Amino acid sequence: MSPSILPVDPFDYVVFGGTGDLSLRKLLPALYQRDRDGQLPSAGRIIAVSRTPLTSSDFRAMVGDALRRHVPANEIDPAVWQRFSARIEHASLDATGAAGWPDLAGLLAEGADRVRVFYLATSPELFGPICKRLQEAGLVSERSRVVLEKPIGRDLASARRINDEVGGVFAERQIFRIDHYLGKETVQNLLALRFANSLFEPLWRSGSIDHVQITVAETIGIENRGSYYDRSGALRDMVQNHLLQLLCLVAMEPPLSLDRESVRDEKLKTLRALVPVGIEEVGQKTVRGQYRAGAIAAGPVRGYLDETEISADSTTETFVAIKAELHNWRWAGVPFYLRTGKRLPEKVSEIVIQFRPVPHCIFPADAGEIVPNRLVVRLQPDEHIRLHLMTKDPGPGGLRLRPAALNLSFAETFKHRFPDAYERLLMDVVRGNPTLFMRRDEVEAAWGWTERILDAWALRGDRPKPYTAGTWGPSGAIAMIERDGRTWHDEPGALE
Ligand code: BG6
Repeated sequence: MSPSILPVDPFDYVVFGGTGDLSLRKLLPALYQRDRDGQLPSAGRIIAVSRTPLTSSDFRAMVGDALRRHVPANEIDPAVWQRFSARIEHASLDATGAAGWPDLAGLLAEGADRVRVFYLATSPELFGPICKRLQEAGLVSERSRVVLEKPIGRDLASARRINDEVGGVFAERQIFRIDHYLGKETVQNLLALRFANSLFEPLWRSGSIDHVQITVAETIGIENRGSYYDRSGALRDMVQNHLLQLLCLVAMEPPLSLDRESVRDEKLKTLRALVPVGIEEVGQKTVRGQYRAGAIAAGPVRGYLDETEISADSTTETFVAIKAELHNWRWAGVPFYLRTGKRLPEKVSEIVIQFRPVPHCIFPADAGEIVPNRLVVRLQPDEHIRLHLMTKDPGPGGLRLRPAALNLSFAETFKHRFPDAYERLLMDVVRGNPTLFMRRDEVEAAWGWTERILDAWALRGDRPKPYTAGTWGPSGAIAMIERDGRTWHDEPGALE
């Protein structure tokens, strides 16, 4: 079956930060792909807004360049490019000053009855001021939506302030807080795995599951985002949003339906069940690391402190491991080990559900060790779901046990292209479907839990532990899980 294309209403997509990295690397390629698949209506415009004085044709040339870099060559179709580039405009304006707004208003007046999306791919301090200007310029209509890129603030107070400011202009149903992990095919597949199959649900609880691991490892460093990253760190950049969202999808109760509130209600309950990690536990339950010079597959790389725009005595963490726990009926006593970092040996995101060992062994000792079952959901790359089971080693010579895996590889099973996360999410905004976006209360609950850890680290005042680029983080992360008699599902080849 090929993926079906749901048409969307005519729209104007206004991207603030339109010449920035996210816009050129992700948003415009995603919109191009939707155009290539025939999803965009003929009345669909993309208006990139930035401070740079650029004509629309200069900007179209920039987009052409960006597509050549970020879209596979065999997916660039000259006819689609011609149609797509005709949709693109650029408007120069000062987001915090008065200049340029009348021009933007003039452009938008041409499509007054269209869905109007304001995508704020800017720093979060500008979210409130831009919304205020949009309102003053009379650009917010009933059919308008605003998309907020993460991070929404840097702690609970700033997140609340931003939510208040944006909420003063847009109703909650018009606000789309994006977490691109929720747009990834395999992340949505978690919903299918759990709720379109009856097999796992009776086992999906503390009686059967020993623990869960969530790893999001990256080989890249901080690229050219030093000034943002140094104020942020792995906990704010990755855990507060992406890893906690993954945890929610694994741990939440079955929602009543996929409607806009049911899924988010269940995620919120999960976030509220997270046990706070305060100053007494933070040394045992968290590990922070910072990479030093080392080597990844591509070659030698410098250390974090030598990256551009990083202060020489920075204590920002580029790696974090956390033992998270949920105080609720289903998950009491089941740790969720979370781990993410830059400059690790490979780019891999996966969720490991580790089942409990068999209660009693009927096999003789020389039959081999019984390895407990493990369900591995690989989100990227090489997307798959793998269930590790014990089997009998074939052939004569007595009964020998051997682990083997049932493997559902998405690339092999479904031959069509895997769309980028943004493709789905950008179209959901036009359709007005916020199910895969974060609600205000969710973002604030996630900050509440994260902020306790940040505060505890600040009170302890210790520096992140160094780790060599190209390794799996500081040894403390291994010690943390080994203290509980468990190990990380590290080398993805290990059990396969
Ligand atoms: C972003 C973070 O949200 O996610 C980046 O700000 C990180 O630091 C990126 O590199 C990872 O996303 P993906 O889709 O490549 O796993």
